[in-house]
Amino acid sequence: MSHTPLRFVRLVVLFFAAVLAVCPLDSSIEQRIDSLLARMTLDEKIGQMSQSTSMATLTESIKAEIRQGRWSSFLNAGGPADRAEAQRIARSESRLGIPLLFGRDVLHGYRTIFPIPLGQAASWDPELIEQAARTAAVEASTEGIRWSFAPMVDIARDPRWGRIAESPGEDPYLASVVGAAVVRGFQRRSLSDPQSIAACAKHYAGYGAVEAGREYNSAWIPEVLLRDVYLPPFRAMLAAGAVSVMAAFNTINGVPATGNEFLLRRILREEWGFDGTVVSDYTAIPEMEAHGYAASAGDAAREALGAGIDIEMVSTTYHDHLKELIESRRVPMQWVDDAVRNVLRLKFRLGLFDQPIPVSRQAVITADARGLAQRLTMESVVLLKNENHLLPLAPSIRSVAIIGPLADSPVDQMGSWAMDGRAEDVVTPLAALRQTLGNARALYAPGLKNSRATDRNGFAVALDAARKADVVLLFLGEEQILSGEARSRAFINLPGAQEDLVSEVGKARKPMVAIIQAGRPLTFQKVTAQARAVLYAWHPGTMGGPAIADLLFGRAVPSGKLPVTFPRTIGQVPIYYARLNTGRPASPAELGIPMGNPANPEGYTSKYIDVDLTPEYPFGYGLSYNDFAYSQLRLSAQTLMEDGTLSVSADLTNRGKYGGAEVVQLYVHCVTASVAQPVRVLKGLRRVQLQPGETKTVTFVLTAADLAYHNQQMQLVAEPGPYQVWIAPDSARGLQGEFTLK
Ligand code: NOJ
Repeated sequence: MSHTPLRFVRLVVLFFAAVLAVCPLDSSIEQRIDSLLARMTLDEKIGQMSQSTSMATLTESIKAEIRQGRWSSFLNAGGPADRAEAQRIARSESRLGIPLLFGRDVLHGYRTIFPIPLGQAASWDPELIEQAARTAAVEASTEGIRWSFAPMVDIARDPRWGRIAESPGEDPYLASVVGAAVVRGFQRRSLSDPQSIAACAKHYAGYGAVEAGREYNSAWIPEVLLRDVYLPPFRAMLAAGAVSVMAAFNTINGVPATGNEFLLRRILREEWGFDGTVVSDYTAIPEMEAHGYAASAGDAAREALGAGIDIEMVSTTYHDHLKELIESRRVPMQWVDDAVRNVLRLKFRLGLFDQPIPVSRQAVITADARGLAQRLTMESVVLLKNENHLLPLAPSIRSVAIIGPLADSPVDQMGSWAMDGRAEDVVTPLAALRQTLGNARALYAPGLKNSRATDRNGFAVALDAARKADVVLLFLGEEQILSGEARSRAFINLPGAQEDLVSEVGKARKPMVAIIQAGRPLTFQKVTAQARAVLYAWHPGTMGGPAIADLLFGRAVPSGKLPVTFPRTIGQVPIYYARLNTGRPASPAELGIPMGNPANPEGYTSKYIDVDLTPEYPFGYGLSYNDFAYSQLRLSAQTLMEDGTLSVSADLTNRGKYGGAEVVQLYVHCVTASVAQPVRVLKGLRRVQLQPGETKTVTFVLTAADLAYHNQQMQLVAEPGPYQVWIAPDSARGLQGEFTLK
């Protein structure tokens, strides 16, 4: 007998088992691949399935390997001149003239460094993010790079994980929107435009869910969560045209992503119809032995290829074992041919066979790129507190004290994965504030050498500067090397003696503004309690300084919104807005030891006894110098029909003094479902620009497909019944309405 309640019997089944061709195959390309495959030796085929990183400089032995066709591609290798020469050798001196492909981690800019991806997501601005990715593509392609290992679309809900910096945050809808913008920016117009670079959606899949935020660790993700939360951004990247995917390092439900047939064959290739290229992560194939999944390196090669890894990154198990595996018939030749076809297709799509052999050129940083970086940074900074409208500061202010280890630290400002950014291009907050105020009015005293420092020798000078100034600007946070890959932290507070520095400087009793640069959500309540204003600037990139100065002095108005929940304490993690309810929900104010006992369970609700249930700042939160009023929620009908649409509108009024933008968010909640649904799920976003006093109506249109989730049979369905809907400034507030899906 079925346990499905009667009301779920009529399901609106969507897309179930639909094979979606992502990008139509070009028959002329396929024919050229056929003709090449017919002429390739097994060694040459294995070469196309292998990627090297060893080209620090182009040595004679590497040149010889390129002539032999030993590598399809190089990763993070060489300079522009090496790449041009290597390409010349491949094209004109290898037997079949198959071009090389140069890949690189172009995560948030190339020469011009934009905010870290988590910061870019805080802008909720796909147009600017797309332009930033385009700028990165132009700069990278100038230097011979035609493949970026980005966007990273791992949903990340644990700030302990260092790579949350590279992620678009906790929400699949936002991740899909901002990731797709990166794909469009990289690949725009056509991939064969010499200034386009191939996107690579990574890390497929579940890497952001590693246990306790421990890098490279195991992820356990029930299939329903995988399909509703972790996979949709990847599907969205393919829909946006991404031509490659990188498998993740981690195991997922006990099976390494690198050897995961369910993920790579069943879902990626069969369900989604992906015809692009799949690359392993760095040495992830032999790492399957350490995972306890493959018995040997040869076994690992077989598992990886069988699952569908086309290119092995850095390690050489394909080179070392495939021949023997084929001879012993443990690997069919068809697997090799399929992989080589996928690799060659990428090279054809990029136009590498047909474009002239590139010459060596250097990317330059242009004024336009700087302007764009400054705008995107301004939009990505989140105003968390602004007591009594301390900000913006009056330009006529007599003097400011600039204190803290991150006021003048170009490398830290660029954040992780900024290997092509140059410190000398960076404009720090100190430089920008000196430019705004002149040296005499900008009193600089770092107080600490770096974010981890505990030596208090600089405190006295910092206090002295604070005493002389009208306002104290505190540049705090975490350094670049504390965030990114292999940078998991068990404590997410401000490192070193930064809190003590703030207390010391607080003795001057001057208004304080904290500007925090970091690669993750940090906990910093002691600072928030003492500072009258707090700006969260992530690692803001090349133009972080001017952008922050513009925001401080009101030449720009903050509009960023958090792409991830900020916990009160690490003990609340994991904490994210799209949680399920419990059978015993607590009211937000409930705290403390229950009054009752198990027989009389007063206060036996889902909460902590020692910390509030709510986060420090919810997902979607961010203030402005303006006050934006939301009013008049209206729905076009009380009912959404299965094949119809429903408009949800509200009025937004700028009650402040400045022109500025507000990011308006649409959330829904399916009240009763065959698989319990989160209390809220983001379904729409809109950046709305408003002049002082102006009112605009914001309208979202919902369809049944927007409400879909996976049921117990893993069908994508929208189930009839009551729904709640919000138009909201963040995930914890908003105007609420109701409708019914029929
Ligand atoms: C390992 C990282 O996980 C991946 O994101 C990156 O693209 C490769 N290394 C290459 O640097």
